[in-house]
Parts: sequence; structure tokens; C-alpha cells
Amino acid sequence: MQDRTPRPEELEPIERADVDELRALQRERLRWSLRHAYDNVPHYRRAFDSAGVHPDDCRDLDDLARFPFTGKAELRDNYPFGMFAVPREQVARLHASSGTTGRPTVVGYTRDDLRTWARLMARSIRASGGRPGDRVHVAYGYGLFTGGLGAHYGAEELGCTVIPVSGGMTERQVLLIRDFEPEVIMVTPSYMLAIVDEMQRQGVDPRTTSLRVGIFGAEPWTEDMRREMEQRLDIHAVDIYGLSEVMGPGVATECVETKDGLHLWEDHFYPEIIDPVTGAVLPDGERGELVLTSLTKEAMPVVRYRTRDLTRLLPGTARPMRRIEKITGRTDDMMIVRGVNVFPTQIEELILRTPQLSPHFQCVLDRQGRLDTLTVRVERRVGVAVDAAERAGATVVELVKNTIGVSVAVDVLAPDSVERSMGKMRRIVDKRGG
Ligand code: DLL
Repeated sequence: MQDRTPRPEELEPIERADVDELRALQRERLRWSLRHAYDNVPHYRRAFDSAGVHPDDCRDLDDLARFPFTGKAELRDNYPFGMFAVPREQVARLHASSGTTGRPTVVGYTRDDLRTWARLMARSIRASGGRPGDRVHVAYGYGLFTGGLGAHYGAEELGCTVIPVSGGMTERQVLLIRDFEPEVIMVTPSYMLAIVDEMQRQGVDPRTTSLRVGIFGAEPWTEDMRREMEQRLDIHAVDIYGLSEVMGPGVATECVETKDGLHLWEDHFYPEIIDPVTGAVLPDGERGELVLTSLTKEAMPVVRYRTRDLTRLLPGTARPMRRIEKITGRTDDMMIVRGVNVFPTQIEELILRTPQLSPHFQCVLDRQGRLDTLTVRVERRVGVAVDAAERAGATVVELVKNTIGVSVAVDVLAPDSVERSMGKMRRIVDKRGG
């Protein structure tokens, strides 16, 4: 793999600042953001008032814990534009997260917000190993989803040549990679797998393409998946995190030189980890739900937004900002099977340790009588004999039993049987009904 570490002089000053300087900036920005939300968004004024807190009560970063949380419900209740803190005419762009049920969650950006987002995405791409002059193939979906346009403007801002392919038409993705020779690809990890399979179907050796860096996010993926991608494609596979409610992609990114968790761009977002049940703030290092407060957003500030993503905060390494550990899943992705908590990422890890099985899998939840059952549908790898794959399936059953402590069934299927995603993969199929 090529060395893609950015040179220190390429980094922004804040990426080289010391922690005290960063905290001072956060204190100042946090006070501004709380005041901005309180003064301009009726929801925040009501919520702060009824919690008996006022922006002036926030003297230090710890004081944020006294302020109320914001959740998806609050955003939905104020659909579509009720959470905006600026007149609608100053909103330069809207995005929305699809939401599995009912109304989407709408988010808005001022021109300055868009500039900040592009800069943070440029910072993220550079941290991941992208450089000015690189060709960047964007296969995240364009549209209301923040992935495509977020990546697009970030790559432009960094000085790259952007190839705005969007998701879908997998054959053509391969053609464009061969002909346009991008160094960087930005795509969900599950769709990258579909593209790699297509390369192999076309007789293209994925290790020989021009790609050097893959910037993968929008869904959970594991260290084992990183090894799979790096091996199959001979690239750096780097994780990027974000969510529409807080900005879109580029809230946190891994640095290519360390790949040890995602540096959260703390000069623009203040992270907390809470116990998802009690709401208590947990110390750094403990696992819980990530809560984010925007420090600079104008159009739609968010105060203590409950992401439902599970991770922990770790000290900075390649940058002064704290890191979040790779996200293991969302509170709402947690399957409870016979009293045991199971995440699709745990299943992914075990499948990827079984060489006869491919990373294309789905978890099907069903009910037999009063008991919930979990069936893992997974494809055998191309070229693996059916009986060898069946034995590998039985191994996964045992691995799951021994490491997670729950009995599951594993259905080993022929290659290409599991639904492919063009974007975020639906890992859980719930057939249990009400
Ligand atoms: O997925 C934004 C994004 C686009 C991030 C492209 C990275 C790359 P939403 O559609 O609002 O926004 O979904 C946000 O996706 O709360 C997580 O549950 C999940 N997610 C995003 N990135 C990661 C990641 C975009 N790197 C939700 N690892 C978040 C695990 C992720 N989960």
C-alpha cells in the first residue's frame, strides 16, 4: 500500500493545536451555539425553560450535561422547518434522512454551513489519505441523502477531480473506475463489496486498479471487513462517520496513518457518551450512546442530539481531537435473541473469520411460539464447494454460541442470493410482526 500520510504542514492549525487551545475554542463556541438555539428556535427555548436552564448557565463544557437532550422525535414534531434558527430565505440547501417510517427528518444549511461542511469533508478526505489532484469517485447516493453531495463538495474543496457517479449501475461503476482511474473511492462498505464482486465477474483483478484509498461509511463495518477490503483491493480502507441531523458525512474520520478509530472534529461538534437507559454522562473510555452538540451550525443548531450510535470516546492520537471507536451498531439495531443482545457487526466478524463464506449476509428475526429466532443468511464464496460451505456454516453456529452466547441458525446460500444494496445495506429483516 502506498504511503498516504498527509504532511504536517498540510494540516489546518487546529489539527495541530494543543488540547487546551481546543477546549477554549469549544467553550466559546458552545456558549454561542446554546444562545443561538435558545434565541432563535422556539423548541429550544421551551425545552431549556422547562428544564430550568439558560444558556448563561453554561460556563464550562461540563455544564452542558444540565441541558435537555434532543431526539428524532423533536425533529419530527417540528417538521419540516420548525428547528431552523434562521429565516427560511437564508437556508441555502435542504437534505433529509429517509427514516424507515413516516416523515423524513429535514435538515437545513446556510451558505456558511455549506462552506464549513465542505471544509470538514476536505479535512476528512485528506486525513483518509486523499490529496489535492486525486481523482475521487463518489458512489454515495446523490440527492436528499447527505453522502453524495457531502463527499462531492469536500473533494472539490480539497482540490480533487470529482467523479459524481452516485450509487447503482454496478457494471458502469467498474467501467468508470477502469477508464477514469480514480485514486480515491467514497462509497458504503457494502456497496464497495458489490463493486468488487462485479470487477471479478468482469475478469478485472481488483488489486490492479488505480484505487489507493477507500473512504467507507454511512453504516457499521468491522476491522475484519477492513482487512477484507484492504486485501482484496490493495487500498487503505478508512472509516468516515456522520449523520444528517448533525451535518452529514465528515463529523468524524479515521486518519490513514493510524486507523485507530475516528477523530471527531471537536472544533465543530462537542461529543458526550451517555448511558442510553439513564441518560447519565459516562466518563471517556466507557461505552454508551454518542450525543452530539453542534458548535458552529447556523441554520439548524443541535443541542445534545441523541445519535443512538454506540461507541466510546478515546484520547486523540494523530490529531488533538478525541476519537470515537468504530461504531458497533445503533441502539435500534440491537437484536435481543433469547435475552442476549446481538449486533449485526458481531455476526459480520465471525463470518469474515470463516474463509469459505462471503461478507454478504443478512440477519432474519422470526418468532417460533414465544421464542425469537435469528437466522443468518450468508452466501458461500465463489468457487467454494457446497459441502465445504455447509461445514463453514456449522462453524459459524458454534462460534456465535461460544462468543456471543446465543443459538442461531445459519443458512448458507449460493453466491448472489442475498439482496445487494446500492447504499446502506439492510442487515436486519424482522419478520416477527407486532
Ligand atoms: O449516513 C451520513 C454519511 C454519509 C456518513 C456517507 C458517512 C458517509 P444518515 O443517513 O443520516 O447520514 O445516517 C446516519 O448512519 O447515525 C449511523 O447509525 C450510521 N453511520 C454513518 N456513518 C457510519 C459509520 C449518513 N462510519 C447514521 N459507521 C448514523 C457506522 C455509521 N455507522
